[in-house]
Amino acid sequence: MDQLIIQITAAANTRTLYPANHPSVSHSNGLVVKTLANILEERQVESITFLVLGDELVVEQDVMRKSSLSHRQFVELLKRRGIERMTLAAGLEVEEAHAFIGALAGGEDLESSPHITLGHVHVSLEQEQEREAPRDLTPDLLEPVRDAFARFRVDHTLPLGPMEQLVWSFIDSLSQTTRSILPLAKLKEHDEYTFIHSVNVSMLVLAQARSFGIKGPMLHAFGLAGLLHDIGKLTVPLAVLTKPGKLEGEEWAMMQSHTIQGAWYLSEMEGAMPLSIAVAYEHHLRYDGEQNYPVLKTKRVPNLASRMTSIGDAYDAMSTIRPYQQPLMRSAALEILKKRSESFYDPLLVANFVRLIGYATGAEAEVPPERV
Ligand SMILES: [Fe+2]
Ligand SMILES: [Fe+2]
Repeated sequence: MDQLIIQITAAANTRTLYPANHPSVSHSNGLVVKTLANILEERQVESITFLVLGDELVVEQDVMRKSSLSHRQFVELLKRRGIERMTLAAGLEVEEAHAFIGALAGGEDLESSPHITLGHVHVSLEQEQEREAPRDLTPDLLEPVRDAFARFRVDHTLPLGPMEQLVWSFIDSLSQTTRSILPLAKLKEHDEYTFIHSVNVSMLVLAQARSFGIKGPMLHAFGLAGLLHDIGKLTVPLAVLTKPGKLEGEEWAMMQSHTIQGAWYLSEMEGAMPLSIAVAYEHHLRYDGEQNYPVLKTKRVPNLASRMTSIGDAYDAMSTIRPYQQPLMRSAALEILKKRSESFYDPLLVANFVRLIGYATGAEAEVPPERV
């Protein structure tokens, strides 16, 4: 894969130095086509997708190491041209590569072609009306994340690639309609609480962030942070995590430690975003800075993504069946959020959340008191 990145970067550099008909240009474009064909054959796949997330490059499910100059140049090149996703498919020929690399290097308009698909998240979020039907949350995207959660409990390693892809697919489906935050109800029947809860919270954070105009890689970072907020719970013994009834003493301490544990494991992970680490650490802190957990020596106002996560977190926890509680009605859960706004939760964000859920459920924006 490094070889392909080097070849594409070299071909773009060559194209900036020489005219289109220079033999060095056709030679370097030819190498791109050949290297791609070799990789696809080696991997037995039909295409390769590159994702640019901030400064990170994710290829299929792996966050690539930023080891070489070519790698950094490649990310810069794609970023400069606003490419956040690029899929290269089998069948790419020299002429098509030639046109693409020429446009990439020369600053001309970049367009998808039969074997090169380019994604501009900013553009797609703004063109809601023209998009196709929302992409389903297919098992193809959910299963690798489910497996990753299960594996983290065993060996404390976490491949970030599948999580990042899943969050992109959430963004795609949310860009159709806010109602997309609802299909997850079906998933809640599953017994893997932390996984299902994390998926739900990610969607709820994305819906909130998007409603404030956050988009592109920043929106993705919010969604990923929501997905990983409780990763530390996978270090808490299952007996404690699923215990019916109240947790006491040591059990409660273990449960509370999921914030610090989560932040610690994420900070050890190559490619983890600082925002994910902050949200794992802060999502149980109160908005008013009063003590909750982790216990801090000085007051700290949680960052915006953490404040959104704690609202989505509480809402999902209250409205989902858990071993230790019956779910509340959606309206009752919203009412509790409103009661705790200003103390536990940011009041502006709670008001916005109530509006979003009201819209998504087709209910009134405000929940009338008599319905609670
Ligand atoms: Fe939590
Ligand atoms: Fe949570």
